[in-house]
Amino acid sequence: MKRNLGPVNALYPSLTTIIGTVVDGRANFLAVAHVGIMNHGQPQYLSFGINTAHYSGQGIHKHREFSVCIPSEDMVRETDYVGLVSGKNTDKSSLFELFRGELAHAPLIRRCPVCMECRLDRVLDFGKHEVFVGEIVATHVDEDVLRQDGKIDIARVRPLLFDFSSVTYWGLGDEVAECWSVGKTLKGRPA
Ligand SMILES: Cc1cc2nc3c(=O)[nH]c(=O)nc-3n(C[C@H](O)[C@H](O)[C@H](O)COP(=O)(O)O)c2cc1C
Repeated sequence: MKRNLGPVNALYPSLTTIIGTVVDGRANFLAVAHVGIMNHGQPQYLSFGINTAHYSGQGIHKHREFSVCIPSEDMVRETDYVGLVSGKNTDKSSLFELFRGELAHAPLIRRCPVCMECRLDRVLDFGKHEVFVGEIVATHVDEDVLRQDGKIDIARVRPLLFDFSSVTYWGLGDEVAECWSVGKTLKGRPA
């Protein structure tokens, strides 16, 4: 038997990211676990929703640039911290060693194995939340999480997954099967 929970968003676990902005002339970071992949062509866009009460939104509106970094499991404390305190009353600018990519207002976190710089494309108004859609301008990846073919090895990134039901962070499990491949075994079956 299934139970209808009503209109509950059950799309978890989701990837935990740290979004970087520049607000009032200094870098600011917040944890965001509601990130979407908008397309898979070129250019590439991603989106995330943040509460309009947060400090970070001002910086994105002003500079139209931001960063999206993927913290590893060993950054769980820092990730949680930037998701607990606001730049309105806490300076989070010196928490991380930063580096600069192509954009002037997309502060990148050296310790995160994967960091993307984005240019704001559009903002969708959802009342208490705004959805920012950004075009990915550059992606900076630590050499030691790259496979031989130059692609990112998520097992080595060790991303943090977020579960809203239990309000806990999770790690990746094992690989299950090869995508666009394992399903082929069912091809040709009678409907
Ligand atoms: C794991 C995690 C995920 C979060 N995801 C979001 C999110 O997707 N959208 C949002 O508005 N706030 C999210 N938050 C809350 C903000 O990160 C938090 O309120 C932060 O302090 C806002 O910082 P700011 O005011 O400096 O921008 C999340 C917090 C945590 C701990």
